[in-house]
Amino acid sequence: MALVTFSNPDYKDKTVYAVAGSHTETILKIAKENKIPVKHDCQDGECGSCIVRVTSVDDKQRMGYHLTDKEITVLRQLGKLTQEDIDRLALDDMPSEWRLACQMIVRDEDILVEY
Ligand code: FES
Repeated sequence: MALVTFSNPDYKDKTVYAVAGSHTETILKIAKENKIPVKHDCQDGECGSCIVRVTSVDDKQRMGYHLTDKEITVLRQLGKLTQEDIDRLALDDMPSEWRLACQMIVRDEDILVEY
């Protein structure tokens, strides 16, 4: 079971949710179900409004996770990733800390989502 912690500097308390390992739910879906105010618009990986920073809550290494083509396009447009970053992440099989909440599927790992 994954623990997802949502954090925002405007809100004092962090909010933690346990997510069963169905591996079908996006960060945005979990946020909406739990009334976490993650900004969003298109919900289809095109507008970039749902950008979040995703890191590990402890010292464990994050699972590898490939960005979708839509995410690569939008994150590059937003200046969060360079082609060099993308190449390095793919080579090292590492996840990007910048993600689109509407595209990232929660896996069986504990993560901190800053929105
Ligand atoms: Fe538009 Fe996620 S809501 S990219």
